[in-house]
Amino acid sequence: MYRDARHVQIVPSGGPISARKTPLNRGFRRVLYRMLLGVDETITTYDRLAARYAARTTYPLERELTCFRRMIPTSGLVLDVGCGAGQYARALEARGLRVVGLDLSLGLLRQAQAAGTDRLVCADMRCLPFADDCSDGCFVCASLLHLPRTQAPKALSEFRRVLGTGGALYIGVKEGEGEEWVADQEGYERFFAYYRLEEIDWLIQAAGFEVVDGWISPPGAGQRHNWLNRFAVVRACGGAHPSGL
Ligand SMILES: C[S@@+](CC[C@H](N)C(=O)[O-])C[C@H]1O[C@@H](n2cnc3c(N)ncnc32)[C@H](O)[C@@H]1O
Repeated sequence: MYRDARHVQIVPSGGPISARKTPLNRGFRRVLYRMLLGVDETITTYDRLAARYAARTTYPLERELTCFRRMIPTSGLVLDVGCGAGQYARALEARGLRVVGLDLSLGLLRQAQAAGTDRLVCADMRCLPFADDCSDGCFVCASLLHLPRTQAPKALSEFRRVLGTGGALYIGVKEGEGEEWVADQEGYERFFAYYRLEEIDWLIQAAGFEVVDGWISPPGAGQRHNWLNRFAVVRACGGAHPSGL
């Protein structure tokens, strides 16, 4: 459904945020997502906690933003995938990039819009509503980790599809093993998948990228996991992983 760009609205600030302009919009879309794509309670949690989540202090990510910026041409167009309340979308704009924020939580997109993020799209990162080769970069901070690990390749292949040769990818995920549901103090749950460094690099490479930089950051306040920061570019041949994948 979301491959059809006619159904997607990229809205200016102050306008409605909608993935489809039909009366069936939200409820139907949520049921459909759960049936077809397995989207889970994580998005419901973000919708419920959107105002609080938007008000939290975010990490400056100065080093990550600077590294990503250097990989993008001047005025390049980038997607902030899983943009949440848009803090990093605005930080990338402040660095001279054109940014489209994409998220599955309408609650968080509304927060992003209220905070001044202009171009927003409600969609699933596993099915990006954009043409092939349309973007210079994908900034994927702390969002891929909400997919079951079996579905990470689908999202990574979508990032590869929308990026041209040489297109840049930033992925930030939590270091660790396995997957789990994590409840906050009020019982609102989010799903997390954790990755080992070699595992996330292998997945990125298998999707047609070359990892060119990266580092491990310590957990933020109240967190348990290190952050794996990976920077990659689309391989020139764009083809198969050396392993034959
Ligand atoms: C931990 S927040 C990170 C937000 C922002 N990138 C940041 O670093 O502050 C994870 C975000 O990913 C979004 N998300 C989770 N699963 C998604 C999916 N399948 N497609 C698009 N967005 C998704 C959530 O709605 C949420 O906004």
